[in-house]
Amino acid sequence: MIKKDEQQLIQAIRNLKKEKSIYIIAHYYQREAIQDIADFVGDSYSMAVAAKQSPGNIILVAGVDFMAESAAILCPDKMVLSPEPLATCPMANSISAADVLAYKEQHPDSIIVSYVNTPAEIKAVSDICCTSSNAEKIINRFPQETNIYFIPDQNLAVNVAHKLGRKLDYFASFCPIHARVTKEDLVKQQEAEPGAMFAVHPECGPELVAMADYCGSTAGIINYVLTSPADKFIIATECGVIHAINKANANKQLFLASEDLICPNMKSITLDKILYSIEQMQTIITVPENIRVRAAMALEKMIAYGS
Ligand code: 13P
Ligand code: SF4
Repeated sequence: MIKKDEQQLIQAIRNLKKEKSIYIIAHYYQREAIQDIADFVGDSYSMAVAAKQSPGNIILVAGVDFMAESAAILCPDKMVLSPEPLATCPMANSISAADVLAYKEQHPDSIIVSYVNTPAEIKAVSDICCTSSNAEKIINRFPQETNIYFIPDQNLAVNVAHKLGRKLDYFASFCPIHARVTKEDLVKQQEAEPGAMFAVHPECGPELVAMADYCGSTAGIINYVLTSPADKFIIATECGVIHAINKANANKQLFLASEDLICPNMKSITLDKILYSIEQMQTIITVPENIRVRAAMALEKMIAYGS
């Protein structure tokens, strides 16, 4: 079979998604062409909200598995397609429901706050979810003395705890991509690009966050760069955000804090896989109803409190 070139693939996806009324939601870490064909591109919080508000009954989620699963949890009446169900988040998979229940048994009065980077089974045993865009707001809803168990990202937990000046218990896992950025990488870039502002994702280590001019979610970083009067930035998050910023034609000079900021799972989604997915209507993401209902409560609470 002759491999269609990129323009043909894009046109075929555009035609078919129109014909079948499929709404494509993509994360900022997606490949450039995928961001360009999507109906909505956003951070993990706004992707969840966009799924709920999407027109029509079929959504394709171009992002890792927990993102498609969140759409399926929040939209039980819609069909949610994943073009690559094996695209996963190693940090999300590092914790089990048994880990959470064991903590809960030892700390029965605790509140479980789970990052959206978790599978449905973990959300189902959580009191509330959060993303990097609303973690501070969500934690602040609880009185200072509340014993909060924040799972599974230790960097986000430590960064939020430091910002809010309160104690959080946390599960000790981390994003292998953001954890790659070292202080030495940053200092090297700062020496090469003097005067550049530094924006960091809170999945990076606290030593980097301490050196940042801005810390926030992918959408937060993009907004910070686009609204800042500065024109030169060093960015510590996955490289996909560079395309999202460049699309605004704001004439910003952008440098990644490290060459290694590529999430292979996010990048495993391709135009070919999206076309196959919408041709074959595969893979439909479903969550067992008993888990979905409890996970939906934690996600809906996040949307109610964290927007
Ligand atoms: P955002 O919620 O900031 O988009 O982050 C998602 C993620 O997986 C970061 O690695
Ligand atoms: Fe998971 Fe990190 Fe990839 Fe985000 S960048 S999906 S946290 S592995």
